[in-house]
Amino acid sequence: MCGIVGYIGSKDAGPLLLQGLKQLEYRGYDSAGIAIGSADRIEQVRRVGRVANLAGALEEEPLRGSAGISHTRWATHGKVTEENAHPQPSSDHRFSLVHNGVIENFESIRAFLRERGYQFHSETDTEALANLIAYHYDKEPAASPDGRESHFLRSVRKALLHVEGTYGIAVLCADAPDQLVGARKGSPLIVGLGSGENFIASDVAALLGATLQVIYLNDGELVELTRDSYRILSSEREPVDAVVHEVDWKIEDSQLGDFEHYMLKEIFEQPQALENALRGRIAEDGSTAKFGGLNISPRDLRQVDRIVFCGCGTAWHACLVAEHLIERYARIPVEVEYASEFRYRNAPLDKDTLVFVISQSGETIDTLAALREARRKGYRTLAINNVVGSTIARETDGGIYQHAGPEIGVASTKAFTSQLFLSSMVALLFARLRDMSFSDGFRYMESLRRLPEQVEQALRMNDSLQRVGQWLAGFEHCLFLGRQLLFPIALEGALKLKEISYIHAEGYPAAEMKHGPIALVSESCPSLFLVSQGEVLPKVVANMQEIKARGGPIVAIATESCQLPEGLVDERITIPDADDPTLAILATIPLQLLSYHAALARGCDVDKPRNLAKSVTVE
Ligand code: AGP
Repeated sequence: MCGIVGYIGSKDAGPLLLQGLKQLEYRGYDSAGIAIGSADRIEQVRRVGRVANLAGALEEEPLRGSAGISHTRWATHGKVTEENAHPQPSSDHRFSLVHNGVIENFESIRAFLRERGYQFHSETDTEALANLIAYHYDKEPAASPDGRESHFLRSVRKALLHVEGTYGIAVLCADAPDQLVGARKGSPLIVGLGSGENFIASDVAALLGATLQVIYLNDGELVELTRDSYRILSSEREPVDAVVHEVDWKIEDSQLGDFEHYMLKEIFEQPQALENALRGRIAEDGSTAKFGGLNISPRDLRQVDRIVFCGCGTAWHACLVAEHLIERYARIPVEVEYASEFRYRNAPLDKDTLVFVISQSGETIDTLAALREARRKGYRTLAINNVVGSTIARETDGGIYQHAGPEIGVASTKAFTSQLFLSSMVALLFARLRDMSFSDGFRYMESLRRLPEQVEQALRMNDSLQRVGQWLAGFEHCLFLGRQLLFPIALEGALKLKEISYIHAEGYPAAEMKHGPIALVSESCPSLFLVSQGEVLPKVVANMQEIKARGGPIVAIATESCQLPEGLVDERITIPDADDPTLAILATIPLQLLSYHAALARGCDVDKPRNLAKSVTVE
């Protein structure tokens, strides 16, 4: 949420910052802005709307200088206007600040500063901090008492001592044109190291193509960058000996290539993402999964007698699938919690409970807070996470990286199916530590190995799904219905459709439809059923009949051997036959493509749906 990029070096900062913002735009796209320091002044350009608008303005009015900060905004405080866009200058224009997070006590900071003559021109919480830094700068002696901090860095640190809330910030100071200062608490911030140049950014994607050497800042840390050096201090002013990491994403991973949209590209990358998730994780005897980063012995894993999964949005749906698979195959009781609720619910857990979080970005604040709460209480924690070095990845006791590559489309696709795949492998791991036999484990693993090829096969339906997606685009309401393992996929189908096409969609267990949602059924509200062969098929067919009797159009996404009565459904989309370990993934593919085509037919921006941002770093 909100993207930050800062640069200090010898090159022209403008084009580099703009490129970083483009690569980071999925974090927010309400407005964008850039500030560049040159000699003893800071100049800025801000525009409402996409980074492209900012780029256009900069073509007409270029900013020159080799140190700067930039921002793409997801509005929290204040409407989407140029005045509320970042960077936010202090009222004396000596400081300029970009911020991701929420300053909760900004009203009292504003009141304090107003009394001392500071002026405010925006409705943002960020401007309060810009002025607070200016206030401390004036109060602090210019000379450093012990040489640990510059005047600039000390003023930022002192100001932050009064801030309640979360922040990832980058700051420019007109008096110190050869320095850039950053700080984080609760919102991600990384430092990128180049040769004769350094960067600051809210995530790695911004730096692809510029540098692969990064430092992940921890909460409470501040950094001071010059073109040739960096200095990191803890909130207690202690120098931090930071570890430099090498990023393993390539610039091509974040480019569109021949695809029109990231979402479509990422849908088609799923066979590869699944291969990546499986690589090196099949035990030597082929009957179970192995993971390098769990940091927990098989004996301790066997002790786990309850698992609580937490996530948000699509990742929460992955948790529901994990619940089904682990309970079915490993017979361990599982509960699934919205991360945002878990944290405040204070659920009683016993000592052998494992808290397992799922998050693509590893930065979702609610999921992070749930993880921290579980750790604070001493529970063992694990995470499935895609972004290497993310805060969740660094704070969990152990974890599993998805290796799905960067997911740029705001609607999660390949990250979701990779989470399902890894959940399925986790279920196998637990099951084989308990009662599952070698041969059952071997067969289970065989079905996982077959999956990438089956997903390829499902993707070949793209053309026929385009027609159905375009038909779906003509409706304003839609129901998604499925049972057992396919119920969470119905939820995910509904979420995908509503988030990118703005068609109102709801997911329900098929049998629950009779208890209320059936009131919505009419010729103008289609129902999408997810069906597979098995004991509940006759019941689901009966639900279809009930909808048909009321004139509701029906689309069935059904496995190959699933027999449906002639003429019952208006459209049938057939997916390969699959067992439970892989069924949810195969059923997801057509739903992603349907949503994509429906959104496109409605003229929506599928990669950047309105009001959304890729990773939600505010509560
Ligand atoms: C997915 O399409 C969403 N836009 C959203 O629900 C997302 O899955 C959620 O915000 C969680 O993100 P995370 O996986 O990065 O934690």
